[in-house]
Amino acid sequence: MPDLSVTLGRLTLRNPVLVASGTFGYAKEMTQFVDFTKIGGVIPKTVTHAPRAGNAPPRTVETASGMLNAIGLDNDGLEHLLSHHLPYFRTLPTAVIGNIAGKTEDEFVAMATRVAESGQGFAGLELNLSCPNVSGGLDFATDPEVTKRIIRRCRDACPNIPLIAKLTPNVTDITIIAKAAADGGADAVSAVNTFVGMAVDWRRRKPILGNVTGGLSGPAIKPLALRAVWRIAKLKAIPVIAVGGIATLDDAMDFLVAGATAFQVGTANFYDPSASVRIAEGLPEALLVFGADRIMDVVGTLNA
Ligand SMILES: Cc1cc2nc3c(=O)[nH]c(=O)nc-3n(C[C@H](O)[C@H](O)[C@H](O)COP(=O)(O)O)c2cc1C
Repeated sequence: MPDLSVTLGRLTLRNPVLVASGTFGYAKEMTQFVDFTKIGGVIPKTVTHAPRAGNAPPRTVETASGMLNAIGLDNDGLEHLLSHHLPYFRTLPTAVIGNIAGKTEDEFVAMATRVAESGQGFAGLELNLSCPNVSGGLDFATDPEVTKRIIRRCRDACPNIPLIAKLTPNVTDITIIAKAAADGGADAVSAVNTFVGMAVDWRRRKPILGNVTGGLSGPAIKPLALRAVWRIAKLKAIPVIAVGGIATLDDAMDFLVAGATAFQVGTANFYDPSASVRIAEGLPEALLVFGADRIMDVVGTLNA
């Protein structure tokens, strides 16, 4: 049996397969579809400090090979997560990586500290620096200085918990932001969040989403995400967790070879909830193609 484990800074996972925030609820909903012992970890929906109602409907619309969403971080807040979901997370036979979004830099630090001090249950923490839908909210990861400062402050406040910076692709050069995350002390970056887009109903002369714009995800964005991951990995500054359009074993292997150390399955969970398990089960055979016996032997081996 090949060694499927991967290490991203302080974080070690049994295999590189994660499920992406916002596409897997708070894990309990998916129990009947997913054998948690088979995947590397789960990332629950982003929580904010205070509860949020989210955006006006419609919040999602299907587009060619993908979907647009503008959920607007509908969630019950951090304290509810800790009191209602954390006890269940503690029972799961896989890593749970929390995902938080602060409204301000101070809020990020306070929330990260609260999670780090909540005791067992979180194997790591993904900082959602990149939600495109929060009206009035700042897309922190469009600014390298802000990105670096938030991560540095969270790192100093929580020296032990693995920190992952989730990046937006809605920038001119994502490698500059990834470098800033590395300089701030992140253990890894997740690339990418959704691409801002929109859909209209021309007959009604109306945008389809209540929020007008939304984030594009699914197979449509895979080539874009692949380029982003490949460019960041080439920096050799920080491990990359790929996310964007991964639905099959071939998709996952493309990202590993292009330089991702781990990957997240997102939109595919909505129409194929066991995709992550199937991909994980296929990895050993895919490694045989190279005669490799460790995932790490194929990461970043693209000839380009
Ligand atoms: C309906 C929906 C809700 C999402 N909510 C979140 C979220 O709360 N936090 C977050 O970091 N990313 C969120 N995302 C982004 C995904 O985690 C992922 O980065 C993105 O969809 C690209 O991956 P995919 O093409 O595999 O879906 C959401 C995506 C979708 C489709």
